[in-house]
Amino acid sequence: MAKVKHEAAWYPLESGETVLDGLLRQGVNVPHACKAGACQSCLMRAVEGTVPPAAQVGLKDTLQARNYFLACACRLPDGAVLEVAGARELRIPARIVALESLSPDVLSVRLETEGPLSYRAGQYVTVVREDGLARSYSLASLPRERTLELHVRLIPGGAMSGWLARDVRPGERVEVQGPAGDCFYVPGQPEAPLLLAGTGTGLAPLYGIVRDALEAGHTGPIHLFHGAREPGGLYLVERLREWAAWHPNLHYQPTVLAGGGGDVREGALEALVLATVPKRPTGWRAYLCGNAEGVLSLRKKLFLAGFSLKDIHADAFLPSTSPAGRVAGAA
Ligand SMILES: Cc1cc2nc3c(=O)[nH]c(=O)nc-3n(C[C@H](O)[C@H](O)[C@H](O)COP(=O)(O)OP(=O)(O)OC[C@H]3O[C@@H](n4cnc5c(N)ncnc54)[C@H](O)[C@@H]3O)c2cc1C
Ligand code: FES
Repeated sequence: MAKVKHEAAWYPLESGETVLDGLLRQGVNVPHACKAGACQSCLMRAVEGTVPPAAQVGLKDTLQARNYFLACACRLPDGAVLEVAGARELRIPARIVALESLSPDVLSVRLETEGPLSYRAGQYVTVVREDGLARSYSLASLPRERTLELHVRLIPGGAMSGWLARDVRPGERVEVQGPAGDCFYVPGQPEAPLLLAGTGTGLAPLYGIVRDALEAGHTGPIHLFHGAREPGGLYLVERLREWAAWHPNLHYQPTVLAGGGGDVREGALEALVLATVPKRPTGWRAYLCGNAEGVLSLRKKLFLAGFSLKDIHADAFLPSTSPAGRVAGAA
């Protein structure tokens, strides 16, 4: 049996149990969301003892070197002993300064951090509420802007999105952890064709990446696909149409499963995206964000269509596994 020490108390782990599940089972409240290694909201630090390499996959080298690990991906061998601490020191206090409805089910949330947050447009941060409820959101803003902008989809019964939509007023304080993720524009090949595809609020990081690329003087074609079930699920449509009118290399394609018309295409996003890809997509780069199933499926198909995996940047918006409304504490 492995055991974990946290704040001077010992917690035995069941065989094969993760550090996160073991601590939660025994009443220790650790911020968490996806429980699948995708959101980094469960970051903890090993104070004493060794964490398996699998618990540090996807973490920046600087975090790995300081013994941070993902509690949801950390399974210890029988007999192992690990002392852990929370990751509070990685969080920056922030204030929500503006909330604006972008569509009936998407809210723009702007935050001002109390200290500098160094990030690239398209990366994601984890927002942590005072009681420890944590959820990850992609950044639609550019680093040069004064505020961070998130696009939050309102989930029926959603703990974080419901709170933001219902209870929060400008001035509310939260903490921000991150940034993380490799979905961002890399300058250096201004003529490379870019393929950006997102469903729902998967538009948020793409919105930042497109602006970043255009401001960096990208001259190659930029194909931006935004998909929704029906036209009401699309947002920022007029603004993106205007950008496409100003920038001849930006091709914006809003897409719906049903109810298309005008320049809004009807059909499966994946098929429309794949129809744009040439036989040999040499030099193309892809950015895929949003619904996890859609992102993983398109990633695979682009690879089969000739994309190199290193040129496919993907952020799957894995949902939390918490029952709605459950409040995780603030380890
Ligand atoms: C890397 C990353 C980036 C993300 N970026 C964004 C972003 O930019 N914008 C954004 O809106 N979200 C984003 N998410 C998802 C976000 O972190 C939350 O999971 C989401 O906002 C729901 O949180 P909630 O507290 O409102 O709902 P919860 O209380 O977590 O969920 C309530 C119930 O709804 C289910 N549920 C949650 N999400 C969905 C969904 N999409 N579809 C169907 N059922 C669902 C849950 O499993 C649960 O049963 C991202 C996730 C990851 C991992
Ligand atoms: S990475 Fe551990 S809960 Fe999401």
